[in-house]
Amino acid sequence: MKLFTYYQYEKVRKGERELKIGIDKIGFYTPQYYVDMNKLAVARNVEPEKFTIGIGQDEMAVAPITQDPVTLAANAALQILDDEAREKIDFVMFGTESGIDHSKSAGVYVHQLLGLKPNARTIELKQACYGATAAIQLAKGHIALNPESKVLVLASDIARYGINTPGEVTQGAGAVALIISADPRIMVLDDASAYLTKDIMDFWRPTYSDVAFVDGKYSNEQYLEFFGHVWDEYKEKTGLTIADFEAICYHLPYTKMGLKALRTILDEGSVDVQERLKENYQISTLYSRKVGNIYTASLYLSLLSLLEQKELEAGSRIGLFSYGSGAVGEFFSGILQPNYRDFLKIDHHTNLFNNRTELSVSKYEEIFEESLPTDGSSVDLDTTNDPAPICLTGIKEHMRQYTNKNK
Ligand code: CAA
Repeated sequence: MKLFTYYQYEKVRKGERELKIGIDKIGFYTPQYYVDMNKLAVARNVEPEKFTIGIGQDEMAVAPITQDPVTLAANAALQILDDEAREKIDFVMFGTESGIDHSKSAGVYVHQLLGLKPNARTIELKQACYGATAAIQLAKGHIALNPESKVLVLASDIARYGINTPGEVTQGAGAVALIISADPRIMVLDDASAYLTKDIMDFWRPTYSDVAFVDGKYSNEQYLEFFGHVWDEYKEKTGLTIADFEAICYHLPYTKMGLKALRTILDEGSVDVQERLKENYQISTLYSRKVGNIYTASLYLSLLSLLEQKELEAGSRIGLFSYGSGAVGEFFSGILQPNYRDFLKIDHHTNLFNNRTELSVSKYEEIFEESLPTDGSSVDLDTTNDPAPICLTGIKEHMRQYTNKNK
């Protein structure tokens, strides 16, 4: 176990030693069910190529009623917790836009389900799909002041637009969990970052609605506008150019969206740079093509796909574009660390995808329409068919009940 001595800490505090902060571990979870987009297209009387090429989605993850944003996040985090992490995590931040309570943080449930130590801070953050990026930036500040700490950042969402709506093809369900620490083993995050806030109504979900409202075309335009702005500002702040990036990962509401953004800057690079970025972009979309939009976690699923599906050289710089409707955007970057692939859970994620069950469109619609009571009545849920270790078992006296089958 690596400990900072008081002497080292003092050097960091005085700015004499560079403190490297970034992503130490990445966990991912998506529920057991999915729908094939070709079949959804047929059911919706749309040409399948519109969904698979025009939108760029092959499959869409569907959450059973026994999975909610809390359980998805807890299941994602389970794989990346060892004794050292449990001992050192003193801050849990949960980014979500499908929260289950206006008051209590979803992170507090996860903190308990994972058996983390009590002397920790736990909060939930909300700014549409940007919440987890905000959490990562706050985690950097926390670790700069407390170099021995580790921070658990959770990004978890179930994207719902409704059956037979234009947004339906961009639904999804899943979570990514990140451990942020000093001397991270996967990626050191660069200090520089560019960000933008503007009050716009491109996508939102009023508290009375369980599906999102969206102005689809406007949201696409604003995504591109925000990307252009923060990309230019990032280059101005850092002096870096497109050639400095091995890959750029995007928030992926659907995989064509990131491609549209990448295309706006490609002519800044040589042919070789363009080819590299286009190839790596496709690799970064492989997981999202099978999962769909998972809002706060989508950018980090894109990063995970790139890291797990291609061996990149240590020292490569990866750009990250985060966009949360409403809207906040940020461009930042990180440097891959030596042997970073040894710290990924590639086999676990391969098994997760291989063990999913395809749903017919009518079965997906049935599951989509299932809902928890909102009138205060209690319910017991049967979790026997849910292979996830952590499940929602019901509601009693207005309180969600969870189980960790591993305990
Ligand atoms: N073969 C190949 N391509 C085809 C095709 C065919 N047979 N038929 C149509 N297409 C193409 C279209 O040309 C179009 O491509 P371009 O965008 O490159 O022009 C693409 O398929 C989509 O077609 P439409 O624009 O007609 O699709 P639509 O009107 O049904 O809606 C959408 C698309 C606006 C993305 C809708 O799905 C939606 O509202 N989604 C939710 C909002 C969203 O994801 N916004 C993204 C930015 S906001 C954000 O990022 C935050 C977030 O997470 C929500």
